[in-house]
Amino acid sequence: MSHWYEERVFNPLMDWALRTPAVRELRTRLLRECPDDPLEIGPGTGLNVPHYPATVHRLRLLAREATLDQRLLDRAAERGLKLVHVHGDAARIPLADASVGTLVCTFVLCSVEDPARVLSEFHRVLRPGGRLFLIEHVRSPRSFERFAQRMLTPLQRRIACGCELDRDLLDALRHGGFATEELACERSDALPFPASELLSGVARRAQ
Ligand SMILES: C[S@@+](CC[C@H](N)C(=O)[O-])C[C@H]1O[C@@H](n2cnc3c(N)ncnc32)[C@H](O)[C@@H]1O
Repeated sequence: MSHWYEERVFNPLMDWALRTPAVRELRTRLLRECPDDPLEIGPGTGLNVPHYPATVHRLRLLAREATLDQRLLDRAAERGLKLVHVHGDAARIPLADASVGTLVCTFVLCSVEDPARVLSEFHRVLRPGGRLFLIEHVRSPRSFERFAQRMLTPLQRRIACGCELDRDLLDALRHGGFATEELACERSDALPFPASELLSGVARRAQ
């Protein structure tokens, strides 16, 4: 996928599709108890920024891009949030083991190349008991929908920068050493099918 397409077509589209009132409500609910100094993975255009509670003063951002998106910078300035750009890939986070208390990751794990590898990085950088706040669209439990997701994924991957519709991320989290009792997986009206099955809440790095 070309850089031009991602920057000029995909990011503006995502910025529009992922800031509907229903998705904003999901973000607010997810982040209202987020502690200060989280590390957000793949922040894109900064749609989570307005939803961090007032007690969050500093936000570290792991982004592959050499410069952060202007919409993200504007949202942070409006909110008075100090940003620290950690330049890198989620598959190779340039931070020490057990150095992060809180990770935030929304609508990213659908498009990373190797979700198991990324989750092993999350596990490595989180302190034992550390929390991963996440919202992701995942594989449907209903067989016909799952079939449709599988059929649509090759096209989706091409037009949506690697995004796959049928990933079983709950299973991947459990296998990756995360406790998942505080996660909910359910059909939501916030996004249309085939991305309407949402996994959201908090996963904890098992001790
Ligand atoms: C659909 S956008 C979501 C943006 C934002 N998290 C949100 O909730 O609106 C996916 C984001 O994941 C980022 N991303 C994808 N693969 C990544 C990787 N391997 N490492 C870091 N970021 C990645 C992309 O650059 C993009 O900003």
